Amino acid sequence: MNNNEKNQKGSETALETAVSTAITRRQFLTRLSLAAGGLGAALVGVPIVGFLFSPLLKKEPEVWQSVGKVGDFKVGETTHVTFSDASPLPWAGVAAETAAWLRRTSDQQFTAFTINCSHLGCPVRWLPQAELFMCPCHGGVYNNDGSVAAGPPPTGLARYLVRVNNGQVEIRTTPLPIEGQIVG
Ligand code: FES
Repeated sequence: MNNNEKNQKGSETALETAVSTAITRRQFLTRLSLAAGGLGAALVGVPIVGFLFSPLLKKEPEVWQSVGKVGDFKVGETTHVTFSDASPLPWAGVAAETAAWLRRTSDQQFTAFTINCSHLGCPVRWLPQAELFMCPCHGGVYNNDGSVAAGPPPTGLARYLVRVNNGQVEIRTTPLPIEGQIVG
């Protein structure tokens, strides 16, 4: 093999190597594109799937929270009590505090009403002289047992479960009941 032939052979080998490298690079870029596409799809898809299935997977927290000692409440009176929201948003701040109307109906019996009107959710006020809850938004009126007395509310005030535990009145806090769901 003379020098010319050697040079030609060397050039062919270099060309084959270059073609081989180009294909490898193309394959690499193809795979990189597929990986980036897959990653993008996962970044978008996983939260959506999580959101769609979260009601099935997520068990809402149920926490008994003390709202005061039994002796703090008089029989026949309705009192405004506050406690922490059972499922506050991380950015809720002071809005993580919520409230209820607590009525002591006997020595060991309490009823806790949500403060939110069953019509459109405005906070209701307790009028002790009239023994009525009044909603300032559209004139809804509730009796002292939370049943509807007048106005647009479709149902009575929703209730929380209440218990007396070690001398403390405790409310079972769950995510805010809506549409007049009675939980107690
Ligand atoms: S929100 Fe209470 S009556 Fe409408």
